[in-house]
Amino acid sequence: MPVDIESLTDPADLWAAQQVFRTAMVGVPLLEREVGGELNEPGRTFGARIGGELVGTVNSYTSWLVVPGGQRVPHAAVTHVGVLPTHARRGIASALLRRQLIDIAERGEIVATLRATQGGIYERFGYGVAGSAARLEIDRRRARFRDTVPESGPVRLLAPADAWEVPAKIYATAGVSWVGAIDRPPQWWRLLQSKGDSGHVAVHGEPGAEDGFVRYHGAAESAGWPRSPHRTVVVDDLVATTPAAYLGLIRHLLAADIVDSVVIPMAAPDAPLRHLLTDERAVTVTDIRDETWLRVVDVAAALQRRAYKPGPPVVSRSRIRSCRPTTRPTGSPRTARRRPTLPPISAPISPRSPPPTSVARRGVIWRWRAEWWSTDPVPRPPPICCSRWTITRSAERISDGMSSGVAGSGQSRVRRPVPGSGAGGRHRKLPAPNVPPRQ
Ligand SMILES: CC(C)(COP(=O)(O)OP(=O)(O)OC[C@H]1O[C@@H](n2cnc3c(N)ncnc32)[C@H](O)[C@@H]1OP(=O)(O)O)[C@@H](O)C(=O)NCCC(=O)NCCS
Repeated sequence: MPVDIESLTDPADLWAAQQVFRTAMVGVPLLEREVGGELNEPGRTFGARIGGELVGTVNSYTSWLVVPGGQRVPHAAVTHVGVLPTHARRGIASALLRRQLIDIAERGEIVATLRATQGGIYERFGYGVAGSAARLEIDRRRARFRDTVPESGPVRLLAPADAWEVPAKIYATAGVSWVGAIDRPPQWWRLLQSKGDSGHVAVHGEPGAEDGFVRYHGAAESAGWPRSPHRTVVVDDLVATTPAAYLGLIRHLLAADIVDSVVIPMAAPDAPLRHLLTDERAVTVTDIRDETWLRVVDVAAALQRRAYKPGPPVVSRSRIRSCRPTTRPTGSPRTARRRPTLPPISAPISPRSPPPTSVARRGVIWRWRAEWWSTDPVPRPPPICCSRWTITRSAERISDGMSSGVAGSGQSRVRRPVPGSGAGGRHRKLPAPNVPPRQ
């Protein structure tokens, strides 16, 4: 039977889409009908039907994403990708994700991001890892701030009645600006709320002018909490829009004598915390994982909207034999912004184009100073992940790392062409005399 891909708008369909997603996820609870329909943004959910039965779905939220330099660009926050196990591996998710990308492009959104349950799925759809998250474990008793660490402002605990509303307001108004930060629309907060208890919530700043918050709970494994020698607090959400907020909220977490350790499961890998302590070993990184998967939808716009600063060049070269070479000498950041040379993802590649090897032999290599690093205090660049180009960048880092938002590792990623796909389709190693070694 044919698969019909359609846009879902009816609340009953949106609820059904949530159930399909949750069934596909196996370990995520199903929803009551009155909640389910509110979690999707109308017009952004697609469903796959076979003989009228909904068997797969994808969803996204209208959002923004902060690029290096601090601009917020139009962004699709992709989520709720699920196909019923009875219908898996028949190309249904592929059809849905392709339909969704067309929709995102039509909306004029420059990038799409998602968080993946499995690492092996999304690269074929043009997504690449743009940011990672580290799990930090803090031995609370050893964690003492250095005398030189500045004071912070007032921190107060919220009453349960304010535990969702106030953080949402802070996130919307306090100027979230770390690279890789995305918007949190109302449906996102409702989704979070639907998962249950807010836990404890503390905010930093004077009432009405708060600039950060932390949500946390006592870990379930600390059963028998009052007498346990391993009382652990887990941070569910930490948003600090200023260094003072970061320090104030961390101080708050470390202040409770009853707690043995604090776990931050989703910290920036270059979080500055350990450098602020008299004993760096009080902080242990126990895991680093991919967090943000990013798909550039409009390459030229993405390059234009991000900021640049002088620095070592970024080199890009085609790895496909018959790719049309685009060449450009190293130029100033301004020039680079005005004349982005990356082709659109769907750009046709002429089979008659000379192979890059010959271009390399003539000493002409596609090169420009599109440093993803910028003057941002916490530079976490989304790399370009498009299907036919390899992008490398300098390993230069700047870090005062005061952001607590989940963001990138700063590692550059490479999207390799799928052998046999697209024009040319095969890798060919370039003898590239003018190309510095990849970092
Ligand atoms: C992951 C999921 C959406 C894939 O749906 P699907 O309809 O089976 O996917 P498709 O048939 O379109 O397969 C697309 C490609 O992904 C591959 N693929 C599918 N599931 C995969 C997996 N778990 N691991 C690696 N590759 C996978 C397929 O082999 C296929 O590759 P190809 O195009 O090279 O042949 C579906 O299995 C699912 O709902 N899983 C549970 C929920 C989940 O993890 N959702 C993702 C949330 S981020």
